[in-house]
Amino acid sequence: MNGDRMRRLIMTASCALIAAPALAADAPASHLGVASCASSVCHGVAKPVENANVLRNEYVTWSHFDPHAGAFRTLREEASTRMAARLGIADAAREPLCLDCHAEHVPAARRGARFQLDDGVGCEACHGASSKWIASHDDAPRVTHADNVAQGLVALERADVRAGVCSACHVGSAARMAGHSLMAAGHPRLAFELDTYSELWRTSGGREHYRRDTDYARRKTESDGVSMWLTGLLESASRTLEIVADERHSRGVFPDFALFNCYSCHRSMKLRRLRDAPGLAPGSLRVQDSALVMLAVVLDAVEPERGAALREATTRLHRAANEGMPALREAAQSLQREIPALRQWSGARRFAAADRDAMLSAILAAAGRGEFPDYSAAEQAVMAVTLLLAASGRTLDSDPRIEALFADLQDDERYDPARFARLLSRLGAGS
Ligand code: HEC
Ligand code: HEC
Ligand code: HEC
Ligand code: HEC
Repeated sequence: MNGDRMRRLIMTASCALIAAPALAADAPASHLGVASCASSVCHGVAKPVENANVLRNEYVTWSHFDPHAGAFRTLREEASTRMAARLGIADAAREPLCLDCHAEHVPAARRGARFQLDDGVGCEACHGASSKWIASHDDAPRVTHADNVAQGLVALERADVRAGVCSACHVGSAARMAGHSLMAAGHPRLAFELDTYSELWRTSGGREHYRRDTDYARRKTESDGVSMWLTGLLESASRTLEIVADERHSRGVFPDFALFNCYSCHRSMKLRRLRDAPGLAPGSLRVQDSALVMLAVVLDAVEPERGAALREATTRLHRAANEGMPALREAAQSLQREIPALRQWSGARRFAAADRDAMLSAILAAAGRGEFPDYSAAEQAVMAVTLLLAASGRTLDSDPRIEALFADLQDDERYDPARFARLLSRLGAGS
């Protein structure tokens, strides 16, 4: 912990709840800052508290182990300084483009007294501006979870809600986009899958941010892993289409390259595809399609007609990208209109063990047919099979077949679809 933050915490060691400002009911809610949650009588206890409904050490876990606590600090590190210099940005830590994803970049009028921009991605970046619920949210059972949500606490246990919150930074949007100049200046490519990233994050540093115990289940119904996965894929697809359809990014002869699948261009010339994409000439550019590819494969298994329709629409999108920007925008908007029906379908459907097995088989079969032609599609496939096996209660910890898959994806420049398909097919043999 840095000295500044430590000092701030010691000075505010009384529970911030007492000091929460009174607000008019219709005033926009404010971010009160991490210090408002962090006192030792609130979420800043050193070790998990027995018999409390929440762990109470969330602040300690966040500040020591959560990558989000360092998100602002990253902007002051050398990687960011170098990136900024190449982009002509004077100071990444003051640049709105960077702050939008590396901090809680809310307008000054919505920052409480203890709010600190340098806290990075703090509690309220995910849980929502707290000014209307902070004073009452722990008064259970008088105040219920639903009461808190009505005051602006974000219902992160719901897949659709969580998908929106995390993807705002991990996928972006038309207004908040990590474009190709950022990537070429050194920003890591954004890869995301809601269920895998949720679990990775929840257990960062080997600590738990929250625990799914009986008390948690009594208060909240958390969406299961498969719902998180499908909902996250739909959210990623929707946000990508939103970016593609936006004039700002698809103007000109060369629209922002980050609208396209990175591996349409960044691939070894020696790479051998197992097959060409149907309906596309060899060498065609493809729009960012890793979520769409995975959705089509899964739908084939459980809802074949929707799967076929999505494949056709995705092919139309790729074709339009090679025709020109107006055609691409139109195809993106047209495909975007299909998303709500898919959301409704996946939100209403419960996936049983037989569905999960069918999805798993469909992914293995698709790999065999060469439907994961590039690294970003393969990455989605590995996260998908891992979460499907886990959802069926299979232990993966020391499974050499899973290890081999992750090892195969160590280096995106060396991705080989045939080798990947062989490694993936080993999972089909009696897991
Ligand atoms: C306000 C933007 C923002 C939100 C909201 C957000 N993240 Fe992040 N996340 C980041 C940034 C920025 C980083 C990189 C931090 C760094 O290293 O500087 C990151 C890092 C991560 C990492 C570590 C990735 C790695 O390569 O090690 C995981 C996992 C993660 N986030 C998951 C999530 C999940 C799950 C959610 C939603 C519950 C979420 N994030 C919400 C911005 C955000
Ligand atoms: C659309 C959201 C978004 C924008 C805009 C954005 N970032 Fe990031 N950044 C992320 C996320 C998410 C990660 C973590 C990626 C991962 O590991 O999955 C990240 C990671 C990084 C990393 C690597 C951190 C590490 O620990 O390896 C650096 C450096 C970085 N960002 C700097 C910047 C700078 C500088 C800017 C502005 C010029 C910027 N970012 C703009 C979302 C964003
Ligand atoms: C990257 C997003 C993110 C950040 C940052 C974050 N949380 Fe969470 N938190 C979640 C998610 C997702 C859950 C699980 C869903 C839920 O119950 O809301 C959760 C769960 C919790 C819970 C358990 C809720 C329950 O009902 O059992 C507490 C308490 C909590 N967080 C407090 C904090 C505090 C305090 C901070 C800041 C120090 C913080 N969180 C930062 C996303 C985040
Ligand atoms: C339409 C083709 C195309 C697409 C799609 C594309 N790039 Fe690029 N990329 C280029 C070109 C051209 C350069 C400049 C190469 C040079 O300077 O030699 C470049 C440069 C880069 C560099 C810098 C490499 C260097 O040697 O300096 C990185 C990193 C990068 N791209 C990442 C990405 C990522 C991540 C994506 C996907 C989000 C992506 N690119 C999508 C064409 C593309």
